[in-house]
Amino acid sequence: MQLFIDTADISEIEAAKAMGVLDGVTTNPSLVAKTGKKMRAVLEEICALVPGPVSAEVLATDYEAMLDEARELATIAPNIVVKVPLIEAGIRAVVTLSNEGIKTNVTLCFSPLQALLAAKAGATYISPFVGRLDDIGHDGMGLVEQIVEMYDAYELDTEVLVASVRSPTHVVEALRLRAHVATIPFGVIAKLIHHPLTDSGLARFLKDAESIPKD
Ligand code: E4P
Repeated sequence: MQLFIDTADISEIEAAKAMGVLDGVTTNPSLVAKTGKKMRAVLEEICALVPGPVSAEVLATDYEAMLDEARELATIAPNIVVKVPLIEAGIRAVVTLSNEGIKTNVTLCFSPLQALLAAKAGATYISPFVGRLDDIGHDGMGLVEQIVEMYDAYELDTEVLVASVRSPTHVVEALRLRAHVATIPFGVIAKLIHHPLTDSGLARFLKDAESIPKD
């Protein structure tokens, strides 16, 4: 499973990249707004840092304007993946962009039927938002399971990108369900590495090592 970071914060991307296990980045308008920088400037900076896929979201909600914006975003770098919301105009736009060879990430997916339409449109990725479903008492990872099963059964090529990840448990579940990608906020990436038994075990080894006779 590929690990993407879900942020537009350059220092977080640099820190995740330094671990050597970062496969890509997803951004959204809310994350870019937090940086206080212009959309294109942030995306250029991210693409210069990360060679893997970098998702950049369109702001338009009508078909023609979405296409214009998507084509413009795609000029930023070859690794840009255009993020398109799961609305009717978005699905139409994905068909056109996919015919033009522009990669797409269909975002704000909350049902298996939406995921079916995205795959039929030729989306590169589908992003089920698991945390936001959990937040309203639904089963976010249950949706991922339904999508993975459907795509396998019908041999649909779209990759399942688990989004709106809130905890390490979401990542474990994404692995168990064989999702292709999980996009994870920096705070959760930091938690993936820690285990109290690793910390106490290391402390014990280092303490015991103090009694090893020196040369
Ligand atoms: C995915 O690409 C989105 O940017 C993201 O995962 C949304 O997560 P949130 O629900 O924590 O805002």
